[in-house]
Amino acid sequence: KTGESSVELRLLKICELLKENISYYNWVGFYFKNGDKEELKLSSYAGEPTDHTIIPFGKGICGQVAVSNKNFVVADVKAQDNYIACSINVKAEIVVPLFIDGENVGQIDIDSNTPDPFTQDDERFLEWVNEQVAEVLTAP
Ligand code: SME
Repeated sequence: KTGESSVELRLLKICELLKENISYYNWVGFYFKNGDKEELKLSSYAGEPTDHTIIPFGKGICGQVAVSNKNFVVADVKAQDNYIACSINVKAEIVVPLFIDGENVGQIDIDSNTPDPFTQDDERFLEWVNEQVAEVLTAP
């Protein structure tokens, strides 16, 4: 997907870089709170297009993280009741919230076609990525 602003373009580069360099990152995207609505909107992503460009708070793994403000590591997506399937190839997912001034404004979402691939290293790494993105988003 082509970024429509310089921020979206930079986010797109991050998505592509992560997807191309980490073998078990098969879909990488950023969702952000959609204005004042209680929903997430897909921003830049790398990987297969998805129908789920809008996700209500509470729905799916992404929607749950919008409410919990906590990382959500899913070793096996089939074991989740509240899950939105994007591709039949996806086995696992990690969603890490993105904070600006302590407020949960969005998240990075990664799907993997490998079962149970995500470790605490992925969590720490993606938290760091989101901190860098927060700086980009708040830069003058
Ligand atoms: N699986 C996510 C939906 C987004 S797609 O993975 C791109 C979820 O359950 O929230």
